[in-house]
Amino acid sequence: MKKLGILVSGRGSNMMAIINACEQGAISAEVELVISNNKDSLALVLAQEKNIETAYLGSSTHPDLEALDNAMNEALIAHDIDLVLLAGYMKKIGPKMLASFKGRIINIHPSLLPRHGGQGMYGLNVHRAVIDAGDKETGVTIHLVDGEYDKGAILAQKAVAVAADDTPESLAARVLKVEHVLFAETIQKIIDGSIILPGV
Ligand code: GRF
Repeated sequence: MKKLGILVSGRGSNMMAIINACEQGAISAEVELVISNNKDSLALVLAQEKNIETAYLGSSTHPDLEALDNAMNEALIAHDIDLVLLAGYMKKIGPKMLASFKGRIINIHPSLLPRHGGQGMYGLNVHRAVIDAGDKETGVTIHLVDGEYDKGAILAQKAVAVAADDTPESLAARVLKVEHVLFAETIQKIIDGSIILPGV
């Protein structure tokens, strides 16, 4: 059974979609470890309620970036993690982790990259940018993580139409529903070999 490590910063709805899909057998894997850089992250509480091991590792526990990178890397290796999923994780991944888990770190982003990605493009900022740009279509992107925000190889995308009366909030809610489905589907396709991870 593949072992998943999930990095989170906030409410954890994508993390829960993955946990639920594993429990239901829709993903042939188990979530072994959840790491958050935010000790108040709701995702930590939700994971603990599911008896999943959690770790709070961030700038408060490890002010030195290299030490934080080492600590996260060691925790994932200690749990024999096969795939690392970023589910609303707001920090860059360090070089140690990028090397240890090359080609096996996957992020979800709520737009059709490369549009509306990069530093500062998270949460409602993304959907506001889509509406401000007058885009008629947005969507969800699942991609490999490299050292830059939202730049790695794209593994899956699904479009979501933008309605004329959409607000950033209404668009975010519709896109989030697609995120939960696409993330679980894509992780299962990686595990069953339908999607081959480049460079692994
Ligand atoms: C999601 O929109 C995800 O695409 C982005 O951050 C948000 C996290 O939401 N990376 P949640 O914590 O999974 O609910």
